[in-house]
Amino acid sequence: MDKMSSQNRLVDVVVTSPPYNINKDYRSYDDNKKRDVYLTWLEDVGKKIKSVMKDDGSFFLNISGRPSDPKLPFDLAISLTENIGFKLQNTIHWIKSVSFDPEDIGRNNRLHNCDNISIGHFKPIVSTRYLSDLHEYIFHFTKIGNVKLNKLQIGVTYQDKTNIGRWKTATEDRRDRGNVWFIPYPTIQEARPHPAVFPIKLPVRCIQLHGIKMNMLVYDPFMGIGSTALACIHLKVNYIGTEIDSQYNRIAKQRISRYMVT
Ligand SMILES: C[S@@+](CC[C@H](N)C(=O)[O-])C[C@H]1O[C@@H](n2cnc3c(N)ncnc32)[C@H](O)[C@@H]1O
Repeated sequence: MDKMSSQNRLVDVVVTSPPYNINKDYRSYDDNKKRDVYLTWLEDVGKKIKSVMKDDGSFFLNISGRPSDPKLPFDLAISLTENIGFKLQNTIHWIKSVSFDPEDIGRNNRLHNCDNISIGHFKPIVSTRYLSDLHEYIFHFTKIGNVKLNKLQIGVTYQDKTNIGRWKTATEDRRDRGNVWFIPYPTIQEARPHPAVFPIKLPVRCIQLHGIKMNMLVYDPFMGIGSTALACIHLKVNYIGTEIDSQYNRIAKQRISRYMVT
């Protein structure tokens, strides 16, 4: 990032998921720092991100706490806003798994005669204190707090079509999706080459929400095995990524080259 800012190479969108300090078994990085050391480190990363971002850019930070330290994402959001000067423009809840009871689904939906429906992977949690953690945050930081977004690009259709035309803004069959995003992990049978990837759909949606622009540049400072790069290839936008571990980097390059030929 120092090199990028010295070359005045500014980015439109940063979308990233740093290590969460939850003792994940990364190959090179030690994910078990003291809490204050971890927060200071990410604050420093945030400062550098701000230095490489365009004034109307977006920084999507995917983060989660552990059940025993649920305040950590909020403490980070506070340090990035109060100490670094970012504005928290949106807080998105990434839901990874969800269960519905049939009576709550609404009469337009055809789910009857079942106890409930569960979608996504439910990782068992061995605790009598904590509920299974099925969601993470995506904090959307900007420099100015009023970056105009392309909400309908990630919008959904109206369930009740009579809404179209009823509101001044509802001129087409598409409405704001809102800040709760259900994105389950794709089922993977083979061994996982990295312990903490996000689904490609997550960076795709963030980039689309910011808005696809000519010659735009997306950056992921914690690239892992390249999910953000694949999202960018899918959307035909330019990207840069950095990753500390050479093996993850090699896998990212493999995935990128395979993705391009398919
Ligand atoms: C949560 S993972 C990101 C996974 C990525 N979103 C994906 O889907 O593949 C965090 C990554 O940050 C990397 N990392 C840790 N410290 C780093 C640093 N100083 N610079 C670059 N990457 C780093 C870790 O090796 C790990 O791969």
